[in-house]
Amino acid sequence: MSGRIPQSFINDLLERVDILEVVDARVKLKRTGKNYVGLCPFHNEKTGSFSVSPDKQFYYCFSCKASGTVLTFLMEYEGLDFVTAVESLASIAGVAVPREAGKAPHADKGEQNLYQVMERAALYYQQMLKNHEEAVNAVDYLKNRGLTGLSARDFGMGFAPSGWSGLSSALKDVGEADLVSAGLAVKSEKGRVYDRFRNRIMFPIRDLRGRVVAFGGRVLADEQPKYMNSPETPIFHKSRELYGLYEARRAVRRLDSLLLVEGYMDVIALAQHGVPNAVATLGTATSEEHLTKLYRYASEVVCCFDGDKPGRDAAWKTLELALPVLSEGRQLKFMFLPEGDDPDSLAHKEGKDHFQHRVAEAMPCIEYMFRRLTEQLDLDLIDDRARLGERAIPYIKLVPEGLLRQLMMNRLSMLTLLPQDALYASAGIATQTNRQSSSHESGPDMRADNRYEANNPTDASQKTRPSRISKYLLGILLKHPEYLGALDDEVRTYLLNGLPEDSLFRTVVHLLDSHPDLDTATLLAALSGERYHALLVELAQAPAVLDEKGLKADFLAGAEKLRKGADNARRKLLIQEIKKGGSADHLAAFWALKQGKMARDADEGPQGRKGETEQAEGE
Ligand code: GTP
Ligand code: MN
Repeated sequence: MSGRIPQSFINDLLERVDILEVVDARVKLKRTGKNYVGLCPFHNEKTGSFSVSPDKQFYYCFSCKASGTVLTFLMEYEGLDFVTAVESLASIAGVAVPREAGKAPHADKGEQNLYQVMERAALYYQQMLKNHEEAVNAVDYLKNRGLTGLSARDFGMGFAPSGWSGLSSALKDVGEADLVSAGLAVKSEKGRVYDRFRNRIMFPIRDLRGRVVAFGGRVLADEQPKYMNSPETPIFHKSRELYGLYEARRAVRRLDSLLLVEGYMDVIALAQHGVPNAVATLGTATSEEHLTKLYRYASEVVCCFDGDKPGRDAAWKTLELALPVLSEGRQLKFMFLPEGDDPDSLAHKEGKDHFQHRVAEAMPCIEYMFRRLTEQLDLDLIDDRARLGERAIPYIKLVPEGLLRQLMMNRLSMLTLLPQDALYASAGIATQTNRQSSSHESGPDMRADNRYEANNPTDASQKTRPSRISKYLLGILLKHPEYLGALDDEVRTYLLNGLPEDSLFRTVVHLLDSHPDLDTATLLAALSGERYHALLVELAQAPAVLDEKGLKADFLAGAEKLRKGADNARRKLLIQEIKKGGSADHLAAFWALKQGKMARDADEGPQGRKGETEQAEGE
């Protein structure tokens, strides 16, 4: 490892390299006054929200809020780590990166040397695949598996012949010690040095800059072990690398989604069939580190699992380790493959469109969580609802505080019919409201939140006991404005007229009522003057907790619940008035309400809709 880069050098660099030059070479920019604008490279958009200020040497996206200096730009855009980004900046400025004394600078040279050795080894294996007489079998094998020469080239595949010293002889000038420390050769107890990889198809494993850091070698027959990977070396840490990430980033400029599969062959087969965004761990289980790395390059990660029990168990493990790194803007989905198939076989069998369809149908991990936790429970039973609460809370607690966690609590509250406060209390997590009253963290968003809660008519008397249902519904509606049209007339009328005048929800409902065709982006743009715009954006961007069917069902049920809550509140008020000897008007109003309810109950058939009365009462 190398010494630290002095901060003063980084500061110098930032002054020396013009952000405009660096960004402009990568993003098409147009001048507007002092600044330059273009399409934001960090999210998909059609309008230019991305602005670069040469004065401030700073970029900022008004839409996704990405911001930073030329250094952060390079890190994010090129997917570089800090040191690599500094090195890249230094090369733009034409200067060398100094290191602080302390750690041996020659270690750095050693690493450079290792990279070179690996690169040469990769070339050697590639040549062997093309030329060596033994490679005929390997080529046949790959062809039989449906791999094209183009795929082999894209992934730099090669072949290690069966001799003990093919590579060592070809790289004679490198020296045995370096071959051993690169993991390419092994030293026996007797001190003899021989090639590690023999008679294997070679898969170079590349880091994010495309440097070969390791190899995976596969046997041609069904022998065990099937794969052999390079050992850990100064430039290779198995648990950190992801096979195919470099290739995916090279193939797709702006990755929205990454697909995590199991095997090298899956990655290659998918890429060959037009699914270039697949990556694989190196035979290890997915770790939190892997996920964090993937989220640096895409906001969505879709994990592929076998459809059998081990597959489902692996999904659950992944869920558990993912919860702590999930947050707004990070989506994790699971897809389960038919038993007996893997992405490799499906890619060849079904082709791109079918496979992409499977990916599109992948289940948000939070939905998976609730489904699994609900298995074997009957949510019509109070006991089972309580059990669900007990089971779910430990997992929800793993999620960092924020909107996603709130949405999960909302969901849990909907499923268990337990008030959120009770859930928060038993989780031992402060609700946003509690937290605010005891700290100074109340930003404008949270105030919007409060204003909102107080608007729920049934809560008017209890402002400290917020129900977040309106916020939950608003979040869904922002993502799917079309759901407003799917509401019952009565419920829709309630949302239009019954919600408090100044509520954000009502504003959105009114806007959508008069402009039913607005999509999320336009809707947000139209509301940009709103005081709580940031909250709206946040809600719209939060990952969906459910798939579309579930979201729609929740929206419809939730809106109905709101209206019923309001009805109940009014009924109680009227009863009070009537008891106090109220007027005939009160009585008439009361009967009107009651009849409306009876008519609705009749519509709903003998069973009614499960639990809803209870739900409305509970709120
Ligand atoms: P094929 O069997 O050729 O389709 O390869 P695959 O890449 O699809 O492998 P598979 O799905 O069987 O295994 C998934 C991953 O686990 C592989 O890509 C390897 O990274 C790893 N793996 C599988 N078998 C071994 C093994 O015997 N040793 C080691 N170290 N890793 C293995
Ligand atoms: Mn396979």
